[in-house]
Amino acid sequence: MSKSYVFCDGKIVDENEVTISIRSKAFNYGLGCFEGIRAYWNEDEKQLYGFRLKDHYTRLLQSAKTLNLNIPYSVDELSKFTVELLKKNQFKQTTYIRPVVFDGGTDINPTLSNAEPKLIIYCQPMGKFAGKNELSVCISSWRRLEDTMLPPRTKPTAAYLNSALASLEAKQAGYDEAMFLTADGHVCEGPGENIFIFKKGQLITPPPSDNILEGITRDLVMRLGREELGIEVVERSIARTELYASDEIFFSGTAMEVTPIVKVDNRIIGTGKQGELCKKIKELFFGLTTGKNPKYSEYCTPVYR
Ligand SMILES: Cc1ncc(COP(=O)(O)O)c(C=O)c1O
Repeated sequence: MSKSYVFCDGKIVDENEVTISIRSKAFNYGLGCFEGIRAYWNEDEKQLYGFRLKDHYTRLLQSAKTLNLNIPYSVDELSKFTVELLKKNQFKQTTYIRPVVFDGGTDINPTLSNAEPKLIIYCQPMGKFAGKNELSVCISSWRRLEDTMLPPRTKPTAAYLNSALASLEAKQAGYDEAMFLTADGHVCEGPGENIFIFKKGQLITPPPSDNILEGITRDLVMRLGREELGIEVVERSIARTELYASDEIFFSGTAMEVTPIVKVDNRIIGTGKQGELCKKIKELFFGLTTGKNPKYSEYCTPVYR
């Protein structure tokens, strides 16, 4: 395997040189937050494009601030480090980038002190995440964490235990993935994805007040629906049984991209195959992530110049 470089303590270093204490509060208590970003490879141009770097780093800084972990970098600096890191690793394929901000303290108290906030960034090649083109999901018996318990909009590392338990339950029951309800029973999101339903000509997605992460892909899907397809896009609470009566359902997310859901709780959705709207959104999405659509070029940061 070729050498892997990571960003740690303000510089790019060989991954083998990085160590984290077994006493780290990040390891013991999950005191941190993170981002997931993609860089898309354009084979015709032999170019790698960091996708919506500024939006992801804006969200990371907001997350870190919420957790009282203030790192001394701006959005522009973080975007620049990421481009340098991708270049150093010489990636020539679609890549996933994982920045993590965590409490570097090693004392036994599970407190967030801001005394030692740390940032690491690593990356790895990532093709299709779902492993399947069409998914079957079930409603999880685990409910999504509420904003009064743990802030869902910060991508806190600790919250992914909630996600992992839901995914485990779904997979053990033979489904591809789980879908969370909120504590009061509204459709919320997947373990690492937002949800859209298409019904009677409207594209509907739960609002931020239903404890979702305000996904960057979700934002793009809403824009594509409105601006490119001219359909009505609505943010409102969704009831569980509305899912069964939907014409189409799909997940959106950086890792999952746009992936259709064709079964929920063993009920077939629409025709039981990827719907026409999802197909169109996917075509638009993959047409712009690789820098091919000038209207959306501000989303794409070239790595090789
Ligand atoms: C819980 C959760 N919801 C939604 C998303 C989708 O967000 P984005 O499109 O910004 O990747 C993610 C992925 O980061 C997530 O972890």
